[in-house]
Amino acid sequence: MKILAIESSCDETAAAVVEDGRIVLSNVVASQVDEHIIYGGVVPEIASRMHAEAISGVTRQALEEAGCGIGDVDAIAVTYAPGLIGALLVGVNFAKGLSFSSGKPLVPVHHLRSHVASNYISHPDLKPPFLALVVSGGHTHIIEVNDYTSYKIIGKTMDDAAGEVMDKAARTMGLPYPGGLNLDKAAADGDRTAFKFPNPRVDGRPYDFSFSGLKTSVINTIHKFDQKGETYSVPDLGASFIEAVTNCLCQKVEMAAKEFGHKKIVLAGGVSANSVLRAKMQKICSDSGWELYMPELKYCGDNAAMVGSQGYFEALGGSFADASLNAYATMPIDNCTF
Ligand code: KG4
Ligand code: ZN
Repeated sequence: MKILAIESSCDETAAAVVEDGRIVLSNVVASQVDEHIIYGGVVPEIASRMHAEAISGVTRQALEEAGCGIGDVDAIAVTYAPGLIGALLVGVNFAKGLSFSSGKPLVPVHHLRSHVASNYISHPDLKPPFLALVVSGGHTHIIEVNDYTSYKIIGKTMDDAAGEVMDKAARTMGLPYPGGLNLDKAAADGDRTAFKFPNPRVDGRPYDFSFSGLKTSVINTIHKFDQKGETYSVPDLGASFIEAVTNCLCQKVEMAAKEFGHKKIVLAGGVSANSVLRAKMQKICSDSGWELYMPELKYCGDNAAMVGSQGYFEALGGSFADASLNAYATMPIDNCTF
C-alpha cells in the first residue's frame, strides 16, 4: 500500500510517499529555519503562511521523486494533531482537498504516533510491544506501545517539555534557533560536571517529569553571571544542563523498563537526535541486555515519511476520516478522536 503523507504541525512543510509503512519512496522537507531564526523561535503566524506557500510544491516534488502520480497512491495521510493549530490546518485542508479531488481515502495521523513510527522506517524488524520515550519540542512521554495503534501513557511532563527547556537554555546562552541542536553542538567538548542542577521529581508520580525548575535554574545561573559582568563557559554550562535533562529522562525510562518488564526500548521525537541522550540510552541498554531502537538522525525531527509509516498502520486499522476532519492543537496519543 502506497501512502502520500503530509506534515505541517510546526515549522517544517513536508510530504513523502511511503510503501507498506516501512519503505520510503520519497521524503521532501522544506524547513522554515531561515525565516524564524531572527525571532529566536517559531512564530506561528509566519509558520502558517509559509506552509500555505510551500505545501503544493513540496507535495508535487514528493510524488515526482517517488515516480508516481496521485492516481498511484492508495491513501493520503496527514498530521491533524497535536501542534500549532494554524500550521496544522494548512496540511489538513490541503489533504482534504486532494482526497476529495482524487477520491483517495484520508487517514488522520497523530503527530507523536508518527514520531514513534519513524523507528519502523529506520528498523524494518521493529514491532510492538515496546517502551518508548517520546521527546519533542512540545511533549515528553514515556509510553507503552502495545500495538501499532495502541498506547498506554506511563509518564509525561507536568510542565515544560524536554525540547522546550533545551531551546530556552540555548536561547538564554545566546545560541541561535534551533536551540536544542545548537546546544548539543556547543556542549560537545564541555565539562558536564562544571555546574550542578537539581534532579527534579514529581511527588508520588515516579514516571512523570517536571522540567520548569531546571529551566529556571539555568536562566538564574546565566543572569547571575550577567549581573556581575562575568563570563561563563557556554560548553560547560551547556554540557552540565544537558547532563541534568538527559539523566532525568534516562533514569525514568530505565525504572519504567524494569517495573513493566520491557526489554525493547525506543526513542523518538526531535530530542532523540541529542548525542548525549543517545549515548546514555545506548549504555543503559547494553548494560541491561536490552535492545535500543533510535530513528536515523534524518527522521528524528519533523518529516512526512514518519506520517506515511504511521498512516499505513492507521489505515490497516480502518481509521479513515471524511471531509469534516478538523485539526487540534492538543490530542492525547492513547485516545485519538477526529
Ligand atoms: O519533534 P520535533 O522536531 O518537533 C516537535 O514536534 O516539537 O522536536 C523539536 C525539538 C526542539 O525543541 C529542538 O530543540 C529539539 O527537538 N532538538 C534537540 C536536538 N535536535 C532537535 N534537542 C537536543 N539535542 C538535539 N540534537
Ligand atoms: Zn515533532
